[in-house]
Amino acid sequence: MSMSKPVSMETIVSLAKRRGFVFPSSEIYGGLASAWDYGPLGSELKNRVQRKWWREMTQLHDNIVGLDASILMHPRVWEASGHVDNFSDVMVEDTITNERFRWDHLTEVQRENRTSPAGNPLSEPRAFNLMFETHLGPTSSGQKVYLRPETAQGIYVNFKNVVQTSRLKIPFGIAQVGKAFRNEIVTKNFIFRTCEFEQLEMQYFVKPGEDEKWFDYWKEQRIRYYDSVGIRPDRLRFKPHGPDELAHYAKAAFDIEYEFPFGWQELEGIHNRTDYDLSRHSEFSGKDLRYLDEEQKERYLPYIVETSAGLTRSVLMVLCDAYDEEEVADGDVRTVLRFHPDLAPITLGVFPLVKKDGLAELAREIEAELRDDYTTFYDQGGAIGRRYRRQDEVGTPFCVTVDYDSKDDGTVTLRFRDSMEQVRVHRSELSERIRAEIKAYRRVGV
Ligand code: GLY
Repeated sequence: MSMSKPVSMETIVSLAKRRGFVFPSSEIYGGLASAWDYGPLGSELKNRVQRKWWREMTQLHDNIVGLDASILMHPRVWEASGHVDNFSDVMVEDTITNERFRWDHLTEVQRENRTSPAGNPLSEPRAFNLMFETHLGPTSSGQKVYLRPETAQGIYVNFKNVVQTSRLKIPFGIAQVGKAFRNEIVTKNFIFRTCEFEQLEMQYFVKPGEDEKWFDYWKEQRIRYYDSVGIRPDRLRFKPHGPDELAHYAKAAFDIEYEFPFGWQELEGIHNRTDYDLSRHSEFSGKDLRYLDEEQKERYLPYIVETSAGLTRSVLMVLCDAYDEEEVADGDVRTVLRFHPDLAPITLGVFPLVKKDGLAELAREIEAELRDDYTTFYDQGGAIGRRYRRQDEVGTPFCVTVDYDSKDDGTVTLRFRDSMEQVRVHRSELSERIRAEIKAYRRVGV
């Protein structure tokens, strides 16, 4: 029987540390609040989540191209974008404990009574801009620049470059993955809300008047995407932004929320940004950013529909969603991460049944044949059952065991993570068989 209840954060944080997914940053110095490092398995998992999204957006859409803009941009970008004036949260402090809170995270009663969750008086609310500032050049008198708080602006300021070099016609999209920084008042929940994070953003440029149609289209596309990577549909939902929740650039917005162990939280935002960004950049830069529609013989500023997902919080979602504990035949419980095989950090474990009698050499040889196609992991230590369990715990979907029969007839045991089923396959057919299994993969119980 699999677990049906969401896993606790303590379990996820401890597994992540123990198995090398995520470590506290600069841990030997006591760590740095809300900063985390992705270990050998975590960096692989993050890369895979990113690559899957990139493939979905760019390779599977012939009208979406990629971009990789720099983190530091001309400071006028952030004046034009509205972030200098508007990108702030209101902060209050518990006057006794000095704990800080976001005003909008307090309950109505707490706000009305001006009391903290502990019941203590609160300080006066004050706005706090979330952008990190720094200076270009060796002295603090150098030009003030910001660490970008969203990757989207790198796309808008390159809109004209992309139109001129790619011959794309509207509607089309530009996708970008990258770091963004926000000096959050409250960081919490492991890698969910951190000051340094990564975004998966796609900006879709459309004809004004067609924006609502494309907004609906992208909402559906994006929720379908999560299903295609095996995320439990009952833990995903849409949440519309009310008029007082909309970001300064948005006409309409929906969040895709995931039910994390700490509750429903935003995973991705889909925003109708209208022509707000391009018109502001036209005004602030003095450059004509209108698009020339050659068929209609008209120039206009496109509207933008944005899909903006957090990469680092997607990694947390994938970890929480994959986590399962299952009672196995001998009464024992196994921990298994049911990652989609495209996301699993290791695709294939390869083991010799025993080290001796040439089995280790043969297993190494078979592993070498598969390395070109899959991320493999060779393990010859301990009982075979323990080796399977170690791979279950890091979500490796397939394991291959090389035994004495393998020497005689070239067959090996292929073992499946989810069902624990084992089949005999000839080594020459392994690669194809695994490819077919990945293509046909469906999450168990979902
Ligand atoms: N680009 C939208 C966001 O960062 O939320």
